[in-house]
Amino acid sequence: MPSSLANPESRTPAFRLAVLASGRGSNLQALIDARRAGGLPADIVLVASDKAFAPALQRAEEAGIATLALDPKDYATRAAFDEALFARVAEHRPDLVVLAGFMRILDAAALAPWVGRMINIHPSLLPKYRGLHTHRRALEAGDALHGSSVHYVTAELDGGPVVAQAEIPVRPDDTPDTLAGRLLGEEHRLLVACVARIAEGHIALAESTVLHDGRPLAVPLRLQGDGQLA
Ligand code: GAR
Repeated sequence: MPSSLANPESRTPAFRLAVLASGRGSNLQALIDARRAGGLPADIVLVASDKAFAPALQRAEEAGIATLALDPKDYATRAAFDEALFARVAEHRPDLVVLAGFMRILDAAALAPWVGRMINIHPSLLPKYRGLHTHRRALEAGDALHGSSVHYVTAELDGGPVVAQAEIPVRPDDTPDTLAGRLLGEEHRLLVACVARIAEGHIALAESTVLHDGRPLAVPLRLQGDGQLA
């Protein structure tokens, strides 16, 4: 039996994370691995998905984390699905909800109570390339730098205040796949670093401003070579 990542015996009260993921779940795995290695002061109390067969759910089960799968087809509207999903998520009392490859647009009313308590990782240097096909769009634009952003989620798609970014250089022979592949490892480090900083209380959202140690963040933090944010 895999040991549960929730409710460790040693600490109280733990910062509680819920992770929403639609697919592969490599960012979820990075959080699980960091938690196991002692690099994430938070318990993952739920992994939820809109896809019953998402590999992310399997990763959660293997780690002994509670899972939830709801099928949007069982709900008449997007709003009804989101309302049901977040009602179930709320039962697990998360301090933070992490969208880690959760590929749905959220209903504004269902989202409203979570603003300030929900972050998303998006594979571009926001505000560039909201939405899909970010790697292809960066290549088509001839960008020298590409990257990933962690931002607080608001009703505006990929438009919420950015907490931190990781950058990689674009190579002349890059394809969307090579770029995505090279970025993924940076995304993992970026997400772990952001969640850790939020769990430690260093980062918060006030109105539409990210606060870093109580001060407004003028520009997003950057992921450094040592995995820290600065
Ligand atoms: C990541 O690249 C993440 O940035 C992206 O989906 C991938 C999930 O990978 N998210 C979005 O595109 C959200 N708009 P994973 O399932 O292996 O964690």
